[in-house]
Amino acid sequence: MPDDHESDDSGSQNPERGVRFVDTDLSINPSKKAQEEGFANTADKYYKDVQSIHGDMAAKRRAITELLFFASVGDLRRCQRIVRLWKLKVSDDACCDYDKRTPLHLAASEGCYKVTEWLIDQNAVVNCRDRFKRTPLEDAARGDHVEVTKLLLDHGGKVFEDGKLVDLSDSHLSGKMRDIPENIVDLEVDWEIDPDALTILEKIGEGEFGIVHKALFHGTLVAAKILKGSSAIALGDFRSEIEVLRKVHHPNAVQFLGACTKQEPYILVTELMVGGSLSDAMRMSRHFTLRRAMEIAVDTARGLAYLHAKKNGAIIHRDLKPGNLMIAGSQYQSRDSLVFDTGTIKLADFGLSKSLPVNKHAGYDLDSKFKLTGETGSYRYMAPEVFRHEPYNFKVDVYSFSMIAYQLFELCPPFAGMDPVDAARKAALAEERPPLMRLATKMPTMLALKKMVTRCWDPNPERRPNFEDVVKVLDDLIKMMPRETASSGACCSLQ
Ligand SMILES: Nc1ncnc2c1ncn2[C@@H]1O[C@H](COP(=O)(O)OP(=O)(O)OP(=O)(O)O)[C@@H](O)[C@H]1O
Ligand SMILES: [Mg+2]
Repeated sequence: MPDDHESDDSGSQNPERGVRFVDTDLSINPSKKAQEEGFANTADKYYKDVQSIHGDMAAKRRAITELLFFASVGDLRRCQRIVRLWKLKVSDDACCDYDKRTPLHLAASEGCYKVTEWLIDQNAVVNCRDRFKRTPLEDAARGDHVEVTKLLLDHGGKVFEDGKLVDLSDSHLSGKMRDIPENIVDLEVDWEIDPDALTILEKIGEGEFGIVHKALFHGTLVAAKILKGSSAIALGDFRSEIEVLRKVHHPNAVQFLGACTKQEPYILVTELMVGGSLSDAMRMSRHFTLRRAMEIAVDTARGLAYLHAKKNGAIIHRDLKPGNLMIAGSQYQSRDSLVFDTGTIKLADFGLSKSLPVNKHAGYDLDSKFKLTGETGSYRYMAPEVFRHEPYNFKVDVYSFSMIAYQLFELCPPFAGMDPVDAARKAALAEERPPLMRLATKMPTMLALKKMVTRCWDPNPERRPNFEDVVKVLDDLIKMMPRETASSGACCSLQ
């Protein structure tokens, strides 16, 4: 594999597993020159391996396919790495797919601001046309990605119409011009919240990207996540993603209420989840009954079924873990009764993978930074294909769900006692899965749950079920389980 440096991970040098990319935080290496030399040597070595098996062109085409994929999901670092390792030129005619869609088309149509900006900087042809004669500007405008549209306009973007390139304002998409501001910050959007309308109250938690406070917003208690390092967040990506968030309306998804993006720090405002997170709940001394564990799993699956079925393209969560499952309910109820009885589970922190660096979670050659700060929470739940840096789809959430379900039914985190990164490595490179104990018992309910969990963690994403199937299985099981006998079942603790 093209690699920035030597890796001792078993399986990483196996070219038959395809072209994969290893994440390395370049900032931690002392000598840039040494680093580049090391990286060139390793890349050459792998390049030869791949050549000998698939041939030079096949390897390069595969790299272009991966570049297209990572451009479409807005993963700038990996786009840069692929281009560098394979010495690709994004302006080349061959740097496209069968429909002549280029990385710029894909980044623009998905509203990926940072990647669009970088591709333009790399001399990508701004007005290249795909098989359907569409330009990246047309894709951005059709997708209502105002920020990316503005960026392309500023770089000479046009629309192809009647056999020639014309200005957006003279095209059939001229109506989109209404929304284009002089500056992105001037964009008037109905979800923008004036920070003065928020009274920030006590801190309730902290994650990698922000500090979460209780806040008062027009008489309602809400959660305000004050984002760390706001200046490093690409406002274009952040706003594109908020456009998506505001269209999410489901009983099992945390309701987005608005954001402050006109000045730093940026603040995300969502409904307050009075019961805290599932991760917090799993640290409490009391345990879930089997029925309650199943209710938690089915709520999660319902939320994900909705996100995956969104009309204008599935929303993939990508960072599913107990810390991102929140427990909702009335602020007048006790926390205990919300957590163990009546609270509804809602998905949190979905849809911000381009602007907040959630994708940093991918990669097994992880720099020590994450280990030292303990910011490894997501690895234990990470799909093998994400860990291996391969293109992925919505089935990554199904895998992560299987790990959470395992934890709920087996009473312990997957690969308990193992460092989260080592756990992810084991699952991704050795195709190991955590041991089944309770789920291995012969009780019909346990057998059915075992079948569901193991299908969800299938190494082949195509064979994993979708969430509507998962909901059906869990719903049927819950209906067969009377409430009064539910307490005899499994419980759950830890992490
Ligand atoms: N909407 C909310 N309502 C109530 N509490 C919340 C809400 N969002 C977050 N919290 C609390 O803040 C904590 C930190 O959340 P945050 O999303 O910042 O970090 P995380 O999910 O643990 O990790 P990551 O940074 O990877 O998302 C949560 O564990 C939870 O206790
Ligand atoms: Mg979170």
